[in-house]
Amino acid sequence: MIETLRSIELWQNLKRNGILGRKSLGFVPTMGALHEGHLSLVRKSKAENELTLVSIFVNPTQFDQVQDLDKYPRTIEQDQVLLEKAGVDYLLLPDYKSMYPDEYLFKVEEKNLSRDLCGEFRPGHFQGMLTVVLKLLQIADADNAYFGEKDYQQYLLVKKMAQAFFFKTQIVPCPTIRDHDGLALSSRNTLLDKAQRKLATQFPLHLQSKSTPAEITSALVRLGFVVDYITDKETDSGVRRFGAVRLGVVRLIDNVKI
Ligand code: PAJ
Repeated sequence: MIETLRSIELWQNLKRNGILGRKSLGFVPTMGALHEGHLSLVRKSKAENELTLVSIFVNPTQFDQVQDLDKYPRTIEQDQVLLEKAGVDYLLLPDYKSMYPDEYLFKVEEKNLSRDLCGEFRPGHFQGMLTVVLKLLQIADADNAYFGEKDYQQYLLVKKMAQAFFFKTQIVPCPTIRDHDGLALSSRNTLLDKAQRKLATQFPLHLQSKSTPAEITSALVRLGFVVDYITDKETDSGVRRFGAVRLGVVRLIDNVKI
């Protein structure tokens, strides 16, 4: 049975009172509206640890658009069923007040990678993300924490933060899970209407093609996408092609190894 903890203290008490024993702990932070992408992280955590903790917290400080935060899908009851079925041990559901006792006076600032790619188009996004991940990793106090390569820039920033601040938790990358037509799964996909969802398939298709970033950009613009960027970058795992596009109000990101 999954145990749902509605406050940070309940989780900290479990840890403090030795209820978890010496069992290894895997942690999967999420914002909910769970899909197979999230569940693949859960499965990896379960395979590599004796206990798994998942958190669901829609973190307001990482949203640069109020409408995006308002519209963000929230499906908590369905999420609980999926996590129970997946065999998760603990689910943490913190609220804003307890996550931000400082009212967001303290922030994590990274001055290089966080300004590139999505950072250029989403001011404050990575600051909010890194700050909440720092808080969540401190609270979870896990052996391993799992992050999807779908958000590769996020994964890299979290990994670099963990190194910079000597976190004891290992940051583990997990491969991108895609829908049957190649679109990377994302909680925001449910916000696409039927025509947009059909068109969205063209994004991963072009990203994976042999064309240059400039050619891909023109092709996507012709199809009706607003293109934030398509660009190749050297990363710790070789060259990757990164892309971010918009269809109406929905922003899609993806990346592939080339
Ligand atoms: P969220 O978008 O809910 O994603 C939670 C985790 O699931 C992230 O590590 C993300 O990369 C991973 N994920 C999402 N879609 C995936 C897919 N198709 N394949 C593989 N992994 C996927 O990312 C966040 O939440 C937040 O920024 C968070 C880290 C929780 C901080 O608020």
